[in-house]
Amino acid sequence: MEFVAQPFQIRAIRREDIRQVLEVERDAFPTLWPPTSFKKEMQNRLARYLVAVRPRTLMTEGVSDSGETGGPDPLTSDPAPPYGAWRRWLESLRRLLPSMSGSQSREFLLGYLGLWKVVDDSHIISVGVRTPHRRLGVGESLVIRAIETSLEWRIRFITLEVRVSNLAAQALYEKYGFKKMGVRKRYYRDNNEDALIMTTDPIATEEFQREFQHLKGVHAEKLARHLVLDIPVTS
Ligand SMILES: CC(C)(COP(=O)(O)OP(=O)(O)OC[C@H]1O[C@@H](n2cnc3c(N)ncnc32)[C@H](O)[C@@H]1OP(=O)(O)O)[C@@H](O)C(=O)NCCC(=O)NCCS
Repeated sequence: MEFVAQPFQIRAIRREDIRQVLEVERDAFPTLWPPTSFKKEMQNRLARYLVAVRPRTLMTEGVSDSGETGGPDPLTSDPAPPYGAWRRWLESLRRLLPSMSGSQSREFLLGYLGLWKVVDDSHIISVGVRTPHRRLGVGESLVIRAIETSLEWRIRFITLEVRVSNLAAQALYEKYGFKKMGVRKRYYRDNNEDALIMTTDPIATEEFQREFQHLKGVHAEKLARHLVLDIPVTS
């Protein structure tokens, strides 16, 4: 049995991710309509979309991500490959239509985060993780990278809106120094729920950075422990 060096990686979104990122959006925000135009967002110079991905070949041996035993993870493993003439036909079609290659992505997308640069602030637009892959540190890794991106942009504060009922997301943001600054009444159109406005202190200060680096270190250790305990893979 072997262990991979990283359970997943965070990188900028690519065109071939769009199909999967829409799947994650539907899972994380079932009432959102219309779906985000990720294609358009990718052309926006003031937006940065990050995704958490892992290779599809990274299959669990005996333990699935949902904690069930018995065989490869059905969510990340590919269906049985087609053979013979049918396979050759599919391959040539794929070469002819590069946009189809997204449906055969070698990477499995676990979650995403959208960040906008708004004047001197950055704004976390959305963060979502597939339901079976929550509580594994994916959301936290995305928020860490959003803070790092904001530092690269020389942004002072990061801000966001979150449903008052969304205690899981609030806990994640609070962990990284976001504070409740106010309420936008009836902000969400699906159920008229209020939004909390949460904002960081200035992110480039020594104080913020000390705590941020500490949390990052603890998170990296936790991911490494998950790897050894929970995510064995076959070569
Ligand atoms: C919010 C969300 C992105 C968190 O992603 P995740 O990958 O499960 O989160 P992580 O495993 O990285 O958790 C990091 C921290 O977030 C907090 N957290 C996450 N889920 C939590 C839960 N269900 N209950 C309490 N705290 C939670 C904890 O502080 C956790 O740190 P800990 O593990 O040290 O306790 C995920 O639940 C999700 O996609 N929800 C639906 C979409 C959504 O609500 N997005 C936010 C909109 S603003």
